[in-house]
Amino acid sequence: VQIVERFESTLRQVASDYPDAFAHAKSEHELRAANAKFVGPSGLITALFKQIPSLPVEQRKQMGRGINELKQAISAAFDDRLAQIHRAAKEAELAVTPLDTSLPGRGVMPGRLHPITRTMYDLVDIFSRLGFQVAEGPEIEHHEHNFDKLGFPPDHPATDMQDSFYFQPWGTERLLRTHTSTVQVREMLAHSPPLAVVAPGAVYRRDDDATHSPMFFQLEGFMVGKDISMAHLKGVLGWFVKQLFGTETVYRLRPSYFPFVEPGAELDIRWESKGKSRWLEVLGCGLIHPVVFESVGYDPEEVSGFAFGMGIDRLAMLKYGIDDIRWMYDNDIRFLSEI
Ligand code: PHE
Repeated sequence: VQIVERFESTLRQVASDYPDAFAHAKSEHELRAANAKFVGPSGLITALFKQIPSLPVEQRKQMGRGINELKQAISAAFDDRLAQIHRAAKEAELAVTPLDTSLPGRGVMPGRLHPITRTMYDLVDIFSRLGFQVAEGPEIEHHEHNFDKLGFPPDHPATDMQDSFYFQPWGTERLLRTHTSTVQVREMLAHSPPLAVVAPGAVYRRDDDATHSPMFFQLEGFMVGKDISMAHLKGVLGWFVKQLFGTETVYRLRPSYFPFVEPGAELDIRWESKGKSRWLEVLGCGLIHPVVFESVGYDPEEVSGFAFGMGIDRLAMLKYGIDDIRWMYDNDIRFLSEI
């Protein structure tokens, strides 16, 4: 009898407690904690279920039905209250000041090509339109490709340790190429004429001031075939400067010396800046020297050709009005986004 009374009183207690307990729960977390006190693994209802076997047989059925009904009522009340809590949370969310989607966004900074790269692409474009192929060569070169095969005498100042970057432990056998003329040698060794090639790339010299960087870029070009003459050179390079600097550009060829051309010349353009007009040196060029053809196994009686080489940095500086080459290599985003 006693056990039945205790059982019934717990049942009544739970039946009167749960509505308040649920109503006081302010969050889903609190509600679940309250619910666990009744129907969790160590909850009161769970404990009552466990006691059923110890009730007098004739009471078990009725008591069993009693807790089952209560358990269902608790479960329904839990679901209602949970739905209420969710609804309240949603309403609170909607009640705050809405997001102002009309505020301007933070701008993205799209990447862009470096002025040297842009100029390099422009140059390659111009020569591609004339049918020149594009080639590349390694930056670490054999002394032979950089100097000997191009007709440099062994004591030429450019071959000096003071002027070029050599590699240990190769002594003077390997160096960072000092010009892209190495690609003339490599391309002619690899292919037979006729050839029309441009080769952009990095070159290295021991120079470092406002107009010289120890690493800079050149574009080499050459054409080899039957009866290629100074007229072809002038035609191609004249067209080139007008493409790059405008159709009104005035230019001249001025005799100059490079070991691998004969005759050799420098191409100057007339440059107006700050109210002054002067000649500006733009590139070196000339007819390829027979000595170069011999060192690549071409017959100088059969073929002839012209070659030219220009500093891409210098052209970029002229084009964008930059007067110190170091700006090009500092990678200061304020400078780069201005040009
Ligand atoms: N290689 C020469 C230099 O670096 C440029 C050049 C190339 C001159 C081809 C003539 C012909 O100064």
